[in-house]
Amino acid sequence: MAGAQPTPADQAREAVVEAALRTLDLDTKARLLAGQDMWSLPALPGIGLRSLVMSDGPVGVRGVRWTADDPSVALPSPTALAATWDPELARRAGVLLAQEARRKGVHVLLAPTVNLHRSPLGGRHFECYSEDPYLTGVIGTGYVRGVQSGGVGTTVKHFVANDAETDRLTVNNLVPERALRELYLAPFEAIVRDARPWGVMTAYNTVNGTTMTEHHHLVNEVLRGEWGFDGVNVSDWTAARDTTGAIEGGLDVAMPGPRTVYGEALARAVRDGRVGEATVDAAVRRVLRLAARAGILDGAEPVVAAPPAPVDGEALAREIARRSFVLLRNERHVLPLKPHGTVALIGAAARDARILGGGSATVFPARIVSPLDGLTAALADGTLRYAVGADPATELPVAEAGFTLRAVCRDAAGEVIGTRSAPGGLIQWMGTDLPEGVTHETLHTVELTGTFTPRESGTHTFGIKGTGDFTLTVGGTTYYDDDQRPGDGDPFEAFFGAPVPRARIGLTAGEPVDVSLTHVVRLPENLPMRVVAFALAHCGPRRDADELIAEAVETARNADTAVVMVATTDRVESEGFDRRDLRLPGRQDDLVRAVAAANPNTVVVVNAGSPVEMPWRDEAAAVLLGWFPGQEGGAALADVLTGAHEPGGRLPTTWGSLADAPVTQVVPADGELRYDEGVFIGYAAWEKAGRTPSYPFGHGLGYTDWAYESLDVDGTTVRVRLRNTGERPGREVVQIYVAPAGPGPERPARRLAGFASADAGPGESTEVTVELPRRAFEVWDETAKAWACVKGSYEIAAGRSIADRRLTAPINV
Ligand code: BGC
Repeated sequence: MAGAQPTPADQAREAVVEAALRTLDLDTKARLLAGQDMWSLPALPGIGLRSLVMSDGPVGVRGVRWTADDPSVALPSPTALAATWDPELARRAGVLLAQEARRKGVHVLLAPTVNLHRSPLGGRHFECYSEDPYLTGVIGTGYVRGVQSGGVGTTVKHFVANDAETDRLTVNNLVPERALRELYLAPFEAIVRDARPWGVMTAYNTVNGTTMTEHHHLVNEVLRGEWGFDGVNVSDWTAARDTTGAIEGGLDVAMPGPRTVYGEALARAVRDGRVGEATVDAAVRRVLRLAARAGILDGAEPVVAAPPAPVDGEALAREIARRSFVLLRNERHVLPLKPHGTVALIGAAARDARILGGGSATVFPARIVSPLDGLTAALADGTLRYAVGADPATELPVAEAGFTLRAVCRDAAGEVIGTRSAPGGLIQWMGTDLPEGVTHETLHTVELTGTFTPRESGTHTFGIKGTGDFTLTVGGTTYYDDDQRPGDGDPFEAFFGAPVPRARIGLTAGEPVDVSLTHVVRLPENLPMRVVAFALAHCGPRRDADELIAEAVETARNADTAVVMVATTDRVESEGFDRRDLRLPGRQDDLVRAVAAANPNTVVVVNAGSPVEMPWRDEAAAVLLGWFPGQEGGAALADVLTGAHEPGGRLPTTWGSLADAPVTQVVPADGELRYDEGVFIGYAAWEKAGRTPSYPFGHGLGYTDWAYESLDVDGTTVRVRLRNTGERPGREVVQIYVAPAGPGPERPARRLAGFASADAGPGESTEVTVELPRRAFEVWDETAKAWACVKGSYEIAAGRSIADRRLTAPINV
C-alpha cells in the first residue's frame, strides 16, 4: 500500500517545512524531539514554530492540567462508541473533540486507542473498541477523520499489541506473524490507509523481542514503508529508553520531558558518530510537518483553516450514549417502561454515576447527569423511589462531599510560597502546572487543609493515596506520619493506585472538623517529569450490607418496575493493571438476585466498560448494557428506558464468563506473554472451542423486530433487503459474515467482513449494500511475507449477530 498522493497544499507545506529545517542547528533539532514538559514540545521562535501541545483522549480533551477545574466534555467510553457500529457517529464525536481541543489550545489528541480485546481481563478494555480488527478499524477511521477535520492531530495508539496491562513496561509479547498482521496491526493499517492520521503512539511493550519504541521493522518498514504513514511517531509516556535504539527504530518524539533520551543525549550521539544527522533530520521533518498541518508553523497553511461549525457537546454525548446501549434481553417486552408506572431505582451507581474508565482516559466534565437525575427529570412526579442496595466501591473514594479544602505550598524553611483552591481531595500537578509563585525548585511540601462537615453521624474513614511522606491530622489529632509506599513500582501508581485507610474516627453530623494532609514533595525516581500527585480519601459510615439489600428489596416489591444499576469501579477498570476476574464487585450479584425474586419486572442496567459476569441474567426480565456512558449517561438512560429512543447498540465484543472464555491470559511468564492462540481471539476463539457465550458478538435487540427478506451477492457487492416487522421505527445493524467453505489454511470459521445500518418505520422494507473488502478472503502468508487470496468457495451470511445469521449465499472467489 503506497501513501496517498500529496496535494498541492501538502507540497506547499512541505516546502515551508524544508526551508525551516535547513535553518536549524543540531542542538535545536535534538531539543525539538524531546518533550519540554508533560504535554508539549518546545517553541522555536526563530522559525516561527509555536509549542505543540498534546492531550489525552479518547473520551474528551483533558488538557494540560489533571484537575476538575479545567473541565472537558466526557463522551461515552470507546467500547460504547464501537457498540454504535456507526463510523459516522464516531466521526461526529471526533469533530466535537477537535472543538474541545481547540478551545483548550491542544494541537494533538492522544487517541484513539485501537488495541484489541484479546482477553476480557485486559484492564484498558473499556478504552479500546472491539475484539474484531475490522470493526475497530472502521470506528477508528471515523474518529480520526472527525478529529482531523477539525484541524487537530491524532496519535493512534498503542502501536502495537498493548492488549493488556500487567508488566506493560517490560512484557515481551510473542505474537505469531499471521496474528500480528491479521489482527493486531490490521486496525492501524486500515486507519493509516483510510484516515491518514498525523500521528501514532508506540507502546510500552516489546513485540517479539524488540521494544516498540525501537521497532525498526514494524515502524520504519511496515508502518512507514509498506503503509506510507507520513506522520509523527511519539512514544508512550516514558516508553523511550535508549537514544540510538529509539531514533534508529523510527521514534520521532520522546515524551514526556524534560528528562528524555533525546535532547542533549541525541545531539551527543550524532557528534559521537553513533547516529547519522540525516536520521535526526527525518524525525524533525515529521514534527515540523505535524506543526504545519496543525497551523503552528509560520508560513504554512494549516490543513483546516476555518474550524467546523460548532457542535453541542451535551446533545452529542447524550445521542452517542443512547445509540450505544445494548439491550441484551427483554422478556415480555418489559422495556420500554409503561407510562405512569412506578419505578424503584436501585444501586450506588444510579446516584453516583460511573461515567468513564480510570487512568489516563480520565477527563473532568463540567456536569454529570446521573441515572437518578435523568429519571427524576423524565418520570412523572411521585413515581420514582431510590435505594442504594449495594455499593460496588471496595476502596475509599477521593474526598468530595462535605470538604472545603485548599492547597498550601511551602518551601524547605516552612514559608508559604503559594496556594491554590482544591475542588476535591485530589492533587495532580504536572510539569509547570503549579500554583502561582511556586516552582519545583522551591516547593518542599503541599498541605491540603480545610474542614469537613459530615452529612451523617458515625465512623468516618480517612485515607491517603500516593507515594512518599505524609502527615494526616483530623480534629487536631495526627493519625499518620510516615512514608507510604504502596503498589508494584509502576510509575503511575501515585495517580492510579489504591488509597490506604489511615484513620477511623467517630464524627457527628453537621459538626465541622479541621482536616490536614501534608505531603513532602519528592520527584519519583522512575518518572522523567516533575509531578505532584496525591489524594485525601474519605468515606462516611458504612451500613450493613444485608440491611441495604433488604431495603432495596422492599423498595422494589412496591414498584411496577425495578431498575437495578450494577457497576464496576476504577479499581476494576483502569490503567496500569489488569482485572483478576469478571465478577461485579461487592454484593451486587446478591442484590440483583434478591430484587429479581421480589419483582418480576426487574431491569438490570450494567454500568461497565467491558464484560462482567451476570450469573443472574436469566432471572432478570431485561438486561441493558449501559457501558461507561459519559457525562449525559443518566439523561440517555431515561431516553431509552421510557422509550423516547430505542437502545441502538450491538455488542462489539463477545460477553461470557471467564471460565468459558477461550483466551484469557494477561500475566506474563518469565517476562513473556505468548499469543499462542494465533488468529483465534474473540468470537473466532469461542467458535473454535465450540462454546456458547452469554451473549454473542453483534447481539443487541432494540425495540422493534426485523425480517431479513433477501440476500444477493454480485461479485463482492452484497445487497440485503429487510423489513421492520415491529410496531415502532427502528435502526438495524445488518452484519455480513464470511465463512470459508473449502480447503485452505486454518482460518476462523467466519469473520465480520462488513456491516451497514438501516432505518425503517413499522412495516417498511429497506435495502442495504455492503462492499466486501479483499481482505475478507486473504490471509497473511508467512513464507511469502505477503497477503494471499485463498481461492475457493465461501458462505456469505447476513444477520443480527454472529450467532443469529438470517440468510446465506454461497460464492466462489
Ligand atoms: C498511557 C497513554 C497516555 C499517556 C499520557 C500513558 O500512561 O498509556 O495512553 O496517552 O500515558 O497520559
